[in-house]
Amino acid sequence: MSGLETQLQALATEATAEIAAVTGLDELEQQRVAYLGKKGKLSEILRGMGKLSPEERPKIGAIANDVKTAIQTDLDQKRDRLEQAQIAAQLAAETLDVTMPGVSYPLGKIHPLNSIIDRVIEIFVGMGYTVAEGYEMESDYYNFEALNTPADHPARDMQDTFYLPDGNLLRTHTSSVQIRHMENHQPPLRIIAPGRVYRRDTVDATHSAVFHQVEILAVDKGLTFTDLKGTLKEFVRQMFGEELAMLFRASYFPFTEPSAEVDVQWEGKWLEVLGCGMVDPNVLKAVGYDPEIYSGFAAGLGVERFAMVLHHIDDIRRLYSSDLRFLRQF
Ligand code: DAH
Repeated sequence: MSGLETQLQALATEATAEIAAVTGLDELEQQRVAYLGKKGKLSEILRGMGKLSPEERPKIGAIANDVKTAIQTDLDQKRDRLEQAQIAAQLAAETLDVTMPGVSYPLGKIHPLNSIIDRVIEIFVGMGYTVAEGYEMESDYYNFEALNTPADHPARDMQDTFYLPDGNLLRTHTSSVQIRHMENHQPPLRIIAPGRVYRRDTVDATHSAVFHQVEILAVDKGLTFTDLKGTLKEFVRQMFGEELAMLFRASYFPFTEPSAEVDVQWEGKWLEVLGCGMVDPNVLKAVGYDPEIYSGFAAGLGVERFAMVLHHIDDIRRLYSSDLRFLRQF
């Protein structure tokens, strides 16, 4: 055996062992360069070919080719195995157990007062009404005067008012929005005005100094008490989800004539749910409408009252407590 042949066999053995020991792709590339690169070990051995006799040369050339192929095959197989191992390791590391319980984040909910307001709006919008807004800080004019409640009117005693140092006040009802809206619009109109109102009430299970109302107002030619009754009847039907017996009790409000308080029979009890009436001609005059041409009806309902009745809440203060044990029920 010639020297070159021995060297080539030794190189093949050495390469097989070294490639088998490789543990990473970078290292494998280094081995490729070391054995098969231009300045690698194989080239180095083949540089001695020049000294061979013409008979020996093809024989050694053939062996060199075999050795080269064998090393290349070792390298290829090793590369495959390393790549497979890398993918397997990645899959193991990134495994997702879809049966694990997820992380749940607490979701906020609509407050029961807001959902009552939303429901009332939805029902009246369904009947062609639009939502109007006014101000929580009002002047005496919009809260009382224009609503046919002059300074010496006994009705003012009914409503203990928070007066502000500048002579303004915190509105005692959403009826003030009636005036603000009519001043800027011509009939026919149909509005509802939800909002916060204020009274100097001592807080207890059924009273709060701040609470919510929804005002309802329609002005058109030829509106009558029958239109008011029909509208409220439909509202109650939708709000309670069934037709309820309703009682219109004659009552008094300065801004309506005639006026009524409405009770509904629900779960065996009569409940007062709202005040209403035909808009007093003086109110129409205050905003420049001709009461000979136009008539209107109005109503005001207490949101807390509805919330307490519908959800069987016995203390109004729960609605303002921000107690999650209470609020999570809705
Ligand atoms: N503003 C009245 C109150 O706060 C409620 C009310 C009664 C509003 C009759 C109206 C109405 O529009 O017609 O007690």
